[in-house]
Amino acid sequence: MENLDLQRLPKHIAIIMDGNGRWAEEQGQDRLYGHYHGVISVRKVVEAATEIGIQYLTLYAFSTENWDRPQAEVLGLMSLFVDTISKEVPDLHQNNIRLHFIGNLDLLPDEARQALASATHTTAQNTGLQLVIALSYSSRWEIIQAAKSLGAQVKQGTLDPAQIDETHFVQALSTKDFPDPELMIRTSGEHRISNFLLFQLAYAELYFTETRWPAFGKEAFIAAILDYQSRERRFGKTSAQINLNT
Ligand code: IPE
Ligand code: IPE
Ligand code: MG
Repeated sequence: MENLDLQRLPKHIAIIMDGNGRWAEEQGQDRLYGHYHGVISVRKVVEAATEIGIQYLTLYAFSTENWDRPQAEVLGLMSLFVDTISKEVPDLHQNNIRLHFIGNLDLLPDEARQALASATHTTAQNTGLQLVIALSYSSRWEIIQAAKSLGAQVKQGTLDPAQIDETHFVQALSTKDFPDPELMIRTSGEHRISNFLLFQLAYAELYFTETRWPAFGKEAFIAAILDYQSRERRFGKTSAQINLNT
């Protein structure tokens, strides 16, 4: 941790928390056991992010595609979300953490929707870590929602289609209040994006680790940030141009 350059921290880190099922199977347990242990990793990473002063952390907890998993796993995950959110909110609130949820929340069971609404409301004034949970989320769904909302504004006559630029588009996304992630971490060895923040990750540094999510903790999180700090972000320019400006 002492090797971290606190002046060059990413403002926003996004994580695809993958590998709960494989981790559990490797222990001879069922997949839900892995999801339960995954929550412990979430707690560790949230603590580490708060400690070092990360401003935004987005966690991919459940994708739209995950609805197609066996019903017992989906039901187990839903009750885990409700339990975890209800249990963790007092602590999160105490630590000045604000919760946000993105995704097609209409698909969630009532009980889960109520838990999310209450957690959002309780923490709404908090100014510390902005913790964004992507739940029932798919980036293509989000982009299509944005297109619909811009289309509706055009139809109402409040938006000229010729004027639509990146700013308008960003404002129509569910992440409009957050800067783009500079660093995206995916655990458990898969090298893909799985329908996560396709628009927002345009210039993110991607970091992949073999570590399964339940085995991921503060040290692994710091290692990812150190790796990020060792990279040169060029945004299309040349290395010489970047070095001239620093
Ligand atoms: C990530 O772990 C958690 C969710 C997608 C809900 P997985 O459940 O995908 O675990 P693996 O990839 O099957 O090991
Ligand atoms: C991505 O993991 C979604 C979450 C971590 C919530 P998956 O395990 O569902 O992704 P694929 O199926 O391997 O692409
Ligand atoms: Mg997986």
